[in-house]
Amino acid sequence: MPVSRDASPGRSLEGRTALVTGAAGDIGGTAARRLIEAGATVVVADHPAAAARLDATVASCREAAGDDRVRAVTFDVTDGEATRTAIASVASDLAPPDLVFNNAGVQGAFVPTHRYPLDDAARVINVNVVGAITVMTSAAAAMVAAGVRGSIVNMSSMAGVSGAPNMMAYSTSKAAIIGMTKSAAKDLAPHGIRVNAVSPAFIGPGAMWERQVELQAAAGTQYFPSDPELVAEMMIGMVPMRRYGSMDEVVDVVLWLSSDRASYVTGVNIEVSGGSA
Ligand SMILES: NC(=O)c1ccc[n+]([C@@H]2O[C@H](COP(=O)([O-])OP(=O)(O)OC[C@H]3O[C@@H](n4cnc5c(N)ncnc54)[C@H](O)[C@@H]3O)[C@@H](O)[C@H]2O)c1
Repeated sequence: MPVSRDASPGRSLEGRTALVTGAAGDIGGTAARRLIEAGATVVVADHPAAAARLDATVASCREAAGDDRVRAVTFDVTDGEATRTAIASVASDLAPPDLVFNNAGVQGAFVPTHRYPLDDAARVINVNVVGAITVMTSAAAAMVAAGVRGSIVNMSSMAGVSGAPNMMAYSTSKAAIIGMTKSAAKDLAPHGIRVNAVSPAFIGPGAMWERQVELQAAAGTQYFPSDPELVAEMMIGMVPMRRYGSMDEVVDVVLWLSSDRASYVTGVNIEVSGGSA
C-alpha cells in the first residue's frame, strides 16, 4: 500500500532543537526519528502512562542518530503546571525549542451526537484543545523570552475540516486547532515564530486507524457496516487516491513546515488527505 518515495530530508535542521508531543505514538514517533535524521536535537514528550512506549521512541531515535541528540520528558498536556514546568526545564537545561510539533491527541468515543457522552466530550476537548493550547503557549513563551525564532506545527485532522460522523467531540477539537493556529500565527509573527497546522485524513497502519475501524463498525449508524473489514474497505473507498496515507507522508509536511523552506508560510492548515475533502 505505501508508495515508493524519496524521503531523504538532508540535514536541513542541524542545530535546531525540536519538541514533539505524543512522541510515543505512531505519527509523533515517526516525526521524532525523522527530525533526528534531519539533524535536529529532539525532545520527545508523552503522557507519564506512556513512558514505556516513549522509551521505544528514544531507542529508535538513538539508532537513527547514531549519537545522543534525544531527550525524553513525560507530562500530561492537560496538567498546565506540569506542562509549563517541563517545557521551561527543557529551555533552561538544553535550549528553548525552536521547532514544536504539537501532536498529542485522543480520538474519544464513536457515538452519534444525540447520545454522545458529555464526560468523554470534556476529556477530548481537554486533551486536544486545552492541552494543545497549553503546549503551544508554554513553548511560545520560552521562545519569545529567549528571542528564538522558529516554527510550531499543530496537529489538526480532516475530521475538523469536514466533520466525521460519530466523532462530534474529536471533530470539534480538531476544528478548534485550526482557529487556534490562525490566531497564534498573527500573535507570533512579530517574534519570528511561524504557526501552522496539518490535517491528515486516514493514516495507517497504526493504533488510531485500527481503533476507528473497530469503533465505527460498533457505532451502529447508517454510515458504516458492522463488519470492521468492510468499514476499512469503505473508508479507503471514500479517499480519491484509494489508500490511506503513511506516517511518513504526514511527517514530510511537518518537516517542510518546520524548515526554512517554508519561511514565508504561516497561519495555514495543510490537508494531507489523498484528496478527501
Ligand atoms: N492516525 C490518524 O489517522 C490521524 C489522522 C488525523 C489526525 N491525527 C492526529 O495525529 C496525532 C497523533 O496521532 P497518532 O495516530 O500518532 O495516534 P497515537 O495514539 O499513536 O498517538 C497519540 C499520542 O498522544 C499521547 N497523548 C494522549 N493524551 C495525552 C496527554 N493527556 N498528555 C500527553 N500525551 C498524550 C498518547 O499517549 C499517544 O502516544 C493526534 O493528535 C491525532 O488526533 C491522527
